[in-house]
Amino acid sequence: MAVVDSTLHVPRPSMLSAYLDWLQMLTGAGLVLFMWSHMILVSSVIIGPGVMNALAGFFEATYMAQVGGPLIGFAFLLHFVLAARKLPFRLDEQRTIWAHAKTLRHRDTWLWLVQAGSAMIILIMGSIHMWVVLTDLPISAAKSAARVADGWWLAFYLVLLPLVELHVGIGFYRIGVKWGFIKRSRRAKMKRVENILTLAFIGIGLLTLIRFLLLAY
Ligand code: HEM
Repeated sequence: MAVVDSTLHVPRPSMLSAYLDWLQMLTGAGLVLFMWSHMILVSSVIIGPGVMNALAGFFEATYMAQVGGPLIGFAFLLHFVLAARKLPFRLDEQRTIWAHAKTLRHRDTWLWLVQAGSAMIILIMGSIHMWVVLTDLPISAAKSAARVADGWWLAFYLVLLPLVELHVGIGFYRIGVKWGFIKRSRRAKMKRVENILTLAFIGIGLLTLIRFLLLAY
């Protein structure tokens, strides 16, 4: 709960708020690492369906998919609940943040807005995706290919893929700036690194989708 100092108009944030910020960063960093690993694992189908099946088999034989999947789902939800403390849900709040962004005219403020907007769509689409995949184990290249080739799922992934990669890339950059790993002098360089990473993962994701389509037809 915020501590109110009668000499201030703005309530001073409490220690709890600092701990929750820390947890938000940790769940975010964990999810960034998960998403990068997830894209590399799924893209193993480009080398061959046998490679993807062997990796999926390993994750299931060691129960990492059965236990890790729901844990990722929980981290995903917790990260949203923590971030929602700062999201402008009410119309008056949305008008204020929009006006502030236009006044500040700073790239990092716009990035925060992209982050907040993409989060809503990722929350819904990511939950649907995890439910569909995790309630249809074992994962196999043939099943994934059949799903991707089924019209609507391709459209689904073509929306989710760029949104997730944007969110993950901006999140990675913002964690660095907010927690002081990226100093002001290195911001421009790290922004370029983030852009390259984001584009590279979108590229890998698109190639993976094409590989699934070729496999299905
Ligand atoms: C433990 C949880 C997860 C598992 C087991 C999993 C597994 C998979 C599998 C097997 C595919 C291949 C396509 C298919 O079978 O439909 C896939 C694709 C995809 N997943 Fe996940 N996923 C998980 C979590 C997530 C999350 C949290 C997100 C983002 C919110 C995500 C985003 C995507 C995207 C964008 C694709 C398309 C990949 C591409 O373009 O190559 N996944 N996932």
